[in-house]
Amino acid sequence: MKKALFIFLIFNCISCKVPTNNIDTSQDDKFGNSAQLNIGKSIDSLLSVMTLEEKIGQMNQYSGFWDATGPTPKAGDVAASKYEDLKKGLVGSMLNVKGVKQVKALQKIAVEETRLGIPLIFGFDVIHGFKTISPVPLAESASWDLEAIKKSAQNAAEEAAASGINWTFAPMVDISRDARWGRVMEGAGEDPYLGSKIAIARVKGFQGEDLSSPKTIAACAKHFAAYGFPDAGREYNTVDIGTSTLYNIVFPPFKAATEADVKTFMNAFNILNDIPATGDRFLQRDVLKKSWGFNGFVVSDWGSIGEMVTHGYAGSDKHAAELAVKAGSDMDMESSAYVIELANLVKEGTVKEQLVNDAVRRILRVKFELGLFDDPYRYCNEQHEKNTVGKKAFHQDALDMAKKSIVLLKNENNLLPLKRENQKIALIGALANDKTSPLGNWVLAGENGFAISVLEGLKQYKGNTITYAEGAKVALPNSKLHFTQELDVNETDTSGFLEAITLAKKSDVVVMVLGEHGLQSGEARSRTHIDLPGVQQSLLEEIYKVNKNIVLVLTNGRPLAIPWASEHIPAIVEAWQLGIQSGNAIAQVLYGDYNPSGKLTMTFPKSVGQVPIYYNNKSTGRPDIENRKEVFKSRYIDEANEPLYPFGFGLSYTAFSYKNLKVKTASNREFKISVNLTNTGTVKGKEVAQLYIHDKYASVVRPLRELKGFELVELEPNEIKTLEFTLTEKELGFYNHLGKFVVEPGEFNVFVGGSSNASLTGNFSL
Ligand code: BGC
Repeated sequence: MKKALFIFLIFNCISCKVPTNNIDTSQDDKFGNSAQLNIGKSIDSLLSVMTLEEKIGQMNQYSGFWDATGPTPKAGDVAASKYEDLKKGLVGSMLNVKGVKQVKALQKIAVEETRLGIPLIFGFDVIHGFKTISPVPLAESASWDLEAIKKSAQNAAEEAAASGINWTFAPMVDISRDARWGRVMEGAGEDPYLGSKIAIARVKGFQGEDLSSPKTIAACAKHFAAYGFPDAGREYNTVDIGTSTLYNIVFPPFKAATEADVKTFMNAFNILNDIPATGDRFLQRDVLKKSWGFNGFVVSDWGSIGEMVTHGYAGSDKHAAELAVKAGSDMDMESSAYVIELANLVKEGTVKEQLVNDAVRRILRVKFELGLFDDPYRYCNEQHEKNTVGKKAFHQDALDMAKKSIVLLKNENNLLPLKRENQKIALIGALANDKTSPLGNWVLAGENGFAISVLEGLKQYKGNTITYAEGAKVALPNSKLHFTQELDVNETDTSGFLEAITLAKKSDVVVMVLGEHGLQSGEARSRTHIDLPGVQQSLLEEIYKVNKNIVLVLTNGRPLAIPWASEHIPAIVEAWQLGIQSGNAIAQVLYGDYNPSGKLTMTFPKSVGQVPIYYNNKSTGRPDIENRKEVFKSRYIDEANEPLYPFGFGLSYTAFSYKNLKVKTASNREFKISVNLTNTGTVKGKEVAQLYIHDKYASVVRPLRELKGFELVELEPNEIKTLEFTLTEKELGFYNHLGKFVVEPGEFNVFVGGSSNASLTGNFSL
């Protein structure tokens, strides 16, 4: 450190003397506080002594390329040249470096061996926990519990920071309406209003109040933009959407993240209306940096700068580098396009150095805010890492989050909660005895086999006898599962059916755990069939023939089309992939020690042919009212339009009623909507009360329903609470066909209830 930082400190001290007129400092001025001004000055002084190559180095990010604690890579390796780049100060950031030991070793090179000693920023996909894996983000969103979601991100940040990480590539705030797309597991579902609230909760959870605290890390809103709308749900595919969808559906969670002061953005692999997002100036410069005033930096997605050549948008890597930097992509993740091409582009005058300066300022600012210049090793204390990673308190919170994420979809004849004594329970399905699948995808620091299985969870309840049979396999045994692998799916093996059927016959209740393996959703896991994979559906039907008392526990990372189960199986519990405490959470819900309160944040279709399916759709000119099956209406001839389970839906072991909706005009532009919510059942429970509006007609067609408020309420049996929601211009306005936010006078309907099908209604005029 000494030599390089010494040099930097000298420059820092003389910062007042360094002319700043060649650098855009306008973004610092607007903070108007002295800390930011000091950072601005430090950046100025540092920039003024950096060579062009060193500046571009800050814009270059490599993935962990060798065992940092082992020997240096062999000459001629790709890793070797990257290692050389690091030593020359041509790397600003690393990703996928795990643990204090490795981080420290790499930071040491950056800080002690390079000319200026500028610390690296270490990024990592801390998507749902670091080592202590919490439920997949889609599951967490089903809790509608913003405090719990924030806490989950906070714990993940603390744990990752203790392992030397400064920056997470999360939250993913992509709205998606297409369950075929595997990455829906990583988001907060289909709704922009809820998605925005969750984006804020996650950003605040990761970043906390003070980014320089050793418990917080920088967050990254990704993938900008519209990555969740790929044609036919196929990963990385073309996106073609109109202005209204872009502004009203895709942008809001990203905008909310900037308002929550998210420090970084990641752009996206997809083309949006024929321009790759990575090279899209409108998205990154006009909307994000100019209109929303984002002053952090934008990192490309993995190799997405180079992929612009494959898309057919750039003629060469050099051209791709030019397009990306001009469009506002500040850091190049793993394309090596900037580090190889950018200096020449600047020297020959194709790219102005001003653009490079702007990108570097943004990157350095985040490094300063993280406190990396004060102490580049501030995240690197092995004792602290040992004491923090996997802390008991994190497990407790992961359990709490897991219980809150579960959605009860069906419960005929109160089959649930399970009786506590003298029951013979058959537990069937490979996923019931799986300790890896519940971790879901994006488990990079966590380890396979570390989740509590359903079998383990249920066995903690001693009053009943539990007997397990696999029935049908989901993933082939012995495959060393890793998220970079294609998962083998055993489609056909029915050899376990007989044992399972025999067991079911002699049991009082059958608990079947079926669904997707944790690695069947996530990046590059698009599916054209979104039913139960392999032979699980046949197994379910065979078991049903011998015992109808089935509790179906679904574990999956996306909505599934399960119409047969929904019609025949008396109890269905959506348990997603709930992380490390999965089996405990599921057992507590099945036994009623926890009353489920989750609500779906993505619509469940009846058939994949209905996809994309979402609640906030618009009226056609020929709506199929009440499924009357008339010709020349907007409908299918072989399936109803309605989903299997609507957005916002979820049951409880108690029941709730909504009554007495009143609309009060607080002012001409503000309305108070009140309703009485009663727990009409016999046990305490929580309900997510939801408010939807419908703008009856406007200058552009508005959705039939739009979520504009919700409250999570806990009530004792017979308890009544009056809830009040406020609607202002912010909720009643919308972006028009030009992308302009407008508030138009007119009539509105309002609906309040326990799902997007809420029937209690009122109206008002703006
Ligand atoms: C994903 C990003 C991720 C990055 C780094 C990409 O493939 O799309 O979401 O952050 O890899 O792991």
